Amino acid sequence: MVSVKYSGVTKQYDDGFIAVEELNLDVNDGEFLVLLGPSGCGKSTTLRMLAGLEEVTSGEIQIDGVTVNHLPAGARGLGMVFQSYALYPHMTIADNLSFGLRMAKGAAKLTSDEIKQRVQEAAEMLDLVDHLDKRPRELSGGQRQRVALGRALVRRPKVLLMDEPLSNLDAELRHQMRNEIRRLHDELGTTTIYVTHDQIEAMTLADRIAILDKGVLQQHDAPLNAYHNPANEFVKGFLCEHIDDLVNTANSLFKND
Ligand SMILES: Nc1ncnc2c1ncn2[C@@H]1O[C@H](COP(=O)(O)OP(=O)(O)OP(=O)(O)O)[C@@H](O)[C@H]1O
Ligand SMILES: [Mg+2]
Repeated sequence: MVSVKYSGVTKQYDDGFIAVEELNLDVNDGEFLVLLGPSGCGKSTTLRMLAGLEEVTSGEIQIDGVTVNHLPAGARGLGMVFQSYALYPHMTIADNLSFGLRMAKGAAKLTSDEIKQRVQEAAEMLDLVDHLDKRPRELSGGQRQRVALGRALVRRPKVLLMDEPLSNLDAELRHQMRNEIRRLHDELGTTTIYVTHDQIEAMTLADRIAILDKGVLQQHDAPLNAYHNPANEFVKGFLCEHIDDLVNTANSLFKND
């Protein structure tokens, strides 16, 4: 059981700017939640507070009922995948995948056989078996992004956090990776929080979407509910009308066939 709960969470940066305001949000065990909203609305801040990379100004964040506000990032049991893959260029793919495991200390320490096993499993899951001896520069963008994902997965995180992991990829690869990510989620059942500003990405990936604007949660709902019953004008414009526009554009392309 791994659930996440934000209770009245506010983030005010040192310059006084309030990036997230009084956020109440719960993520169920095994759920795929997408944080959606325009640039600057507070998506990354929301994720980074949960990851322990950003302090909470007020309110409480709980993982499995335990308040984590003051727990160091490394003790929270989370895996994180960012937009830039930040792989170690001089290391092989296998070493990139195992790096976090090799650095683990204390109770988290694994034997080298266990590490090998986990790397092999991740490589099979992500179709990287033939690339384990290569360096990152010998891989395509999509393959590198899969390594970044694998690096988070080998640690068997309680919660997987992804911040616009596909935005560096071209449209075709994004589409492929999106399907991969959802398939992996269904296979592993890891509670997942995924940040994007892309409405279609949110609609296709999410069990539920949390839509933010200017640091304030606008609607937290199943994708189709949000589309059919937008909570306010912002959601209507940002989600519904945007999707309608895309559909209309697509339809008009085929009209004269
Ligand atoms: N360290 C900081 N100090 C002051 N303001 C910050 C800081 N980091 C972020 N902000 C501001 O907080 C707001 C939310 O930032 P955040 O990175 O969470 O947005 P976002 O929704 O992830 O945007 P994007 O889609 O562009 O990544 C923005 O207006 C940003 O300028
Ligand atoms: Mg961001």
